[in-house]
Amino acid sequence: MSILVTGGTGYIGSHTVVELLNAGKDIVIIDNFSNSKREVLDQIKQITKKDFKFYEINYLDREDLKNVFEENKIEAVLNFAGYKAVGESVEKPIEYYMNNVSGALVLLDVMREYKVKKFIFSSSATVYGDPQTIPITEECTIGGTTNPYGTSKLYIEQILQDLYKSDNSWDIAILRYFNPVGAHESGLIGEEPNGIPNNLMPYISQVAEGRLKELSVFGNDYSTPDGTGVRDYIHVVDLAKGHIKALEKLDKESKGIYTYNLGTGKGYSVLDMVKTFERVTNKKVPYKIMPRRAGDIATSYADPQKAKQELNWQTEKGIEEMCEDTWKFIVKNKDNKKHPNN
Ligand code: WQD
Repeated sequence: MSILVTGGTGYIGSHTVVELLNAGKDIVIIDNFSNSKREVLDQIKQITKKDFKFYEINYLDREDLKNVFEENKIEAVLNFAGYKAVGESVEKPIEYYMNNVSGALVLLDVMREYKVKKFIFSSSATVYGDPQTIPITEECTIGGTTNPYGTSKLYIEQILQDLYKSDNSWDIAILRYFNPVGAHESGLIGEEPNGIPNNLMPYISQVAEGRLKELSVFGNDYSTPDGTGVRDYIHVVDLAKGHIKALEKLDKESKGIYTYNLGTGKGYSVLDMVKTFERVTNKKVPYKIMPRRAGDIATSYADPQKAKQELNWQTEKGIEEMCEDTWKFIVKNKDNKKHPNN
């Protein structure tokens, strides 16, 4: 029996594939490289010394997807295929809803046809909108998303709730990620955003690299300790491990639909991240204070107790490692580009 991973060469997908392979699972990856590179397949093999099956397909293509279920005995599906750029989603709502929502629907429909009903969905803390309380628990009201990316996550969560209500032989975990950063400690896989990054950590690292001149800090007048926005940054390897624990939970527990926050429970400001990055990498990150960014909230961090109690999962890596590993990936990636045969 195999686990199907959609979007398995992307940032979070690739790190989760590594953890699944390390846990001895058989894996089938599908990806169309719409926001990732083919080389990631080799990097995963290099890290794990393990092999897996791969199909270059778009998960919206029902016939191609059915073929994967025909050719493999799939027991569970982890869905990382999806567009994720907040700003771009405002420009391209149809593309975002089509890829994220329709893609999930095609996938769920094909799963139903093949009687595969174990599903792990990558959701986001963005579904909480402007959160009612901090730290954010899973009981906080969801809604009030401010962009199609976030709304697509919200819609898919609702679809999954409705699906489970209609047929309680499904077994579903909804994982709400806080702010994933960092890279695998090997420096072989990491985050490679297209164009100018939107998210803080990739922006900081490109400034440190000299590719971008300076960081714009969006607002220093929030009611936070230093006035800049506070977030729950989580190391991508800790996040990946959360998926293994969620899968174990679905395997052993009676069927259900479970929702978990995956975060550290700690909030760090923009300036905390800049200072820590400078300290651990010995690089300068010049910045200037700019007006607030539309749609941003002051503070967001998780209450991760539910995941700790029910999944026996908690994060292990602090912001130093997040910064160190981000930098390791940048340096190694640059070397690989200079010497592609290394
Ligand atoms: C973090 C903090 C910014 C860039 C978004 C999505 C969320 C998830 C992760 C996933 C904020 C500040 C940022 C910059 C800055 N999406 N900042 N200068 O907004 O918490 O969450 O990404 O795929 O769904 O909404 O993350 O990294 O963009 O911002 O000052 O150039 O850094 O204002 O306080 P965010 P982020």
